[in-house]
Amino acid sequence: MSYGLNDFITGMPKAELHVHIEGCVEPLMLLRLAERNGVDIPYRDEDEVWAAQDYGEPALDNFLKYHENCLRVLQTGQDFYELAYAFFKRSAEENIVYLEIMFETQAHISRGLVFSECFDGLNQARRDGRRDFGIESNWIMSFQRDHSAESSMEILDMAKPFKDEIIGVGLDNYEVNNFALKFVEVFRRAREEGYRLTSHCDCNQQNSIEHIRQCLELLQVERIDHGLHVIDSPELTAMVRESQIPLTMCPTWRPSDPAPRRLESIREMLELGLLVSINTDDPAEFASRYLNNIFIEMHKHGSYTKDEIVRLTRNAFTSAWISEDAKAHYLEKLEKYVAGK
Ligand code: HPA
Ligand code: ZN
Repeated sequence: MSYGLNDFITGMPKAELHVHIEGCVEPLMLLRLAERNGVDIPYRDEDEVWAAQDYGEPALDNFLKYHENCLRVLQTGQDFYELAYAFFKRSAEENIVYLEIMFETQAHISRGLVFSECFDGLNQARRDGRRDFGIESNWIMSFQRDHSAESSMEILDMAKPFKDEIIGVGLDNYEVNNFALKFVEVFRRAREEGYRLTSHCDCNQQNSIEHIRQCLELLQVERIDHGLHVIDSPELTAMVRESQIPLTMCPTWRPSDPAPRRLESIREMLELGLLVSINTDDPAEFASRYLNNIFIEMHKHGSYTKDEIVRLTRNAFTSAWISEDAKAHYLEKLEKYVAGK
């Protein structure tokens, strides 16, 4: 029975909307890039890298300290190309047909890298991924919210020649208090320039409800990455349900977690009628790994049914920043798959 469902999950056409390309640096690639680029990292072999992924609390901060190593080994356009191409290939194996992928900005520029070189590498991989694996995708440019608004404005300038290749902007990294306040002008400009808008509101952060409210009201985001704590406020729940603001949840887990985290809350979100989807966030940096594995473990540990898994997948296509025609195309593909099983 559950073997059948695993096959169903694996073969199902899927979308992923919340994944950071820098979170796709696999342990072996981390070691290889560190050596190739002469970057010191605190791990000697793959076992040590895997062991380092057992982030203690506070989980976001400790995760981001590990993540810093994955950023530092990326040095050239070729590195970005190889990273992204490997991710497209892996995603095709997962039967993902559509991706929205975040890339970080200040995290690279502040190390002296050149925006156009990094982005050219990523975008060449996107073209090759489409050619070789038939995967459609869009880029989301993420500002690091612990950096200044001025540097985000400079990055909007740098991104101008590539505007047509970048669908939206987002905010990630450390969740510093009331971060939305300093990005009002940045987001207004991004909106005027035609970018779609999202922001992380991470799980278990201080002031989370207020952060979500500020992102919605002040930044006018159209989507929230994570956004778990919406359900802690009846008022926000009603607002997000009515406007069908997508919430891109990531039930990731660490090697020593007994089960995927947040499964009950995700079911509650579904039952409340929120537009919640399932995503990997940083598949090379969590024990949860890639999308099929997450769905399979949601079934195993949270008794998620086939219907619930299909609903979550439908939500992902509905939440995507693509034309209504493209949405209809993917949803039809999904419904045909479901009907044929
Ligand atoms: N939250 C904040 N910053 C991040 C994340 C995340 O989930 N992944 C990579 N950078
Ligand atoms: Zn994220």
